[in-house]
Parts: sequence; C-alpha cells; structure tokens
Amino acid sequence: MTTTTDTGAPTQGHRLAAENVTIGYDKRTISRDLTVGIPDGSFTAIIGPNACGKSTLLRSLARIITPSTGRVLLDGKDVSRYRSKEVARRLGLLPQTSLAPDGIRVADLVARGRAPYQSLIQQWRPEDEAAVAAAMAATRTDVLSGRYVDELSGGQRQRVWVAMLLAQETSTLLLDEPTTFLDIAHQYQLLDLLRTLHGQGKTIVAVLHDLNQAARYADHLVVMKGGHVVTTGAPAEVLTAALVEEVFDLPCVVAPDPVVGSPTVYPLPTGDAAG
Ligand SMILES: Nc1ncnc2c1ncn2[C@@H]1O[C@H](COP(=O)(O)OP(=O)(O)OP(=O)(O)O)[C@@H](O)[C@H]1O
Ligand SMILES: [Mg+2]
Repeated sequence: MTTTTDTGAPTQGHRLAAENVTIGYDKRTISRDLTVGIPDGSFTAIIGPNACGKSTLLRSLARIITPSTGRVLLDGKDVSRYRSKEVARRLGLLPQTSLAPDGIRVADLVARGRAPYQSLIQQWRPEDEAAVAAAMAATRTDVLSGRYVDELSGGQRQRVWVAMLLAQETSTLLLDEPTTFLDIAHQYQLLDLLRTLHGQGKTIVAVLHDLNQAARYADHLVVMKGGHVVTTGAPAEVLTAALVEEVFDLPCVVAPDPVVGSPTVYPLPTGDAAG
C-alpha cells in the first residue's frame, strides 16, 4: 500500500519512513498521524521553530521513542521488529544533547560507536580500530584522543560525539542540531563532511536551525510546525519568503546566495528597528 505524507509524497520505497505515527511523551501528543519519508541517499534537513517536534520525530525514526499509533519503517520492516544491534548497524543518531560517562577519554568514547558490532564472541577487531581512526581523522578529533571528554570545550565535545556516530559506520545518519556549539569554521567543516558522506552514498538527516545552511547543503527539506509537516521538497522550491513567514512568523526576503546560489533568507527589519 502506498501512503501519502501531509504533502502528498509517497513513503513507499523509502528505506526510512514514518507512517501515520502518533508520537509524544506520556499523555502528551506532539505529532498525530504524521507521515514522512526520507528519500534514499538524500541529504535531508528538518527545519521548524523551537518545540515543533523535530527532535521527537528524529527520536521516533531512531526507535528511541515508540509511536502509539502507526509505524516507522526501516528497510521495509517495522523498526520495532529489529533487534537493537541490528538497528544500530543500519542507522545512527546524534542526539541534541548527550552525556558522556564520567572519566571517559575521547578515544574510548568514540570506540563505543563500535558496540553494535561486538558480542561476547566477537571482540575488538582491526576493522573496529580502523573505523575509530577514520572517524577521528574525519572530525579532526584525533589530536584530542587521550583527553578526558568532560574536560573538553563544548565544540570539541560535539565533534567527539560526531566521531562516535561516524565510527558506527551506518548507511543512515540522523543528527539533531549537529552544528550546535561549533564556531563558524567548524560548522562548515562539519557540513562539508556530511556532504562528503552524502556523496559516498550515505543518507543524511539533520535538524538544522540555520535555514541558509539547510538550503545550501540539503537536497531535501522537511518543514515542520506544531507537530505537522508543512511541506517537503527541494530547497529551491520550498524555501520561499511566504513559507518562512508562515512557519517562523518572520517577514523576510529570500534571494540566491551570492556564492552558491542556494535560497538565502534575509529578515526584514521589524517595526522597531525600521524606524
Ligand atoms: N522528554 C520529554 N517529555 C515531555 N515532553 C517533551 C520531552 N521532550 C520534548 N517534549 C516536548 O515536546 C515538544 C516537542 O519537543 P521537541 O524536542 O521535539 O522540539 P524541537 O522541534 O526539537 O525543538 P528545539 O528546536 O527547541 O530543539 C515540546 O513541547 C517539548 O516541550
Ligand atoms: Mg530539538
């Protein structure tokens, strides 16, 4: 059966999709009957105002929370029917906030990304070592290898969490505000890294607050408001001044970025500032 999103896009054929899910916390429903598909091999950015349900959606896609109705499909199968390690070998989540175990060093935390590949009989192997080394090199955290995680700066720590996610070597990466805490150069380094991974065939799903970065890096936007998906599609089609005003209540002009041509939001002065 082909289902449709709020915006009419079918979820059939997507490796990762939420179908008619109701998600929330205890008795608090955040999204009701939400359907959204993540196009295979896409760089999808989820955008929307604070508290609109972006992290909640990401958590449900990663099986951290279970929908009370509907289902999340991963590779054609209800995600709840996989064993935990199987899910963790297919998709990885960088949560919006994470707490490292006390007294852990950087290299040991990144190595935890290999947990889905280990068991009582399957211990540490050369390919685990190689995955950790590659993840630390890609995130430039190798120089921090012996440091205690709780003694790092916010931005250094964020890059260590990304390294742990990369060490997991999943074909789908879900990242909740991955650029938080990063200075502007490290933000673009990380986005470039995600684009490189995307170019290697991975599916990237990132919650981003910077609409201009979202439009510049993503090839697919999921726009949310009040627990609903308002629209989905390519940034050039979706990111309009009317949409930004509707979703964020921000009057603006949208014009092409002078460097790469992607739609860029220029907020208009408010009444106070305009005078
Ligand atoms: N653990 C929780 N228990 C109860 N309510 C929660 C919990 N986490 C989030 N919420 C509520 O769910 C709603 C959606 O939160 P969510 O974290 O999904 O928003 P978001 O779009 O990611 O926002 P932000 O941009 O601020 O990160 C909010 O009203 C929030 O207060
Ligand atoms: Mg959030």
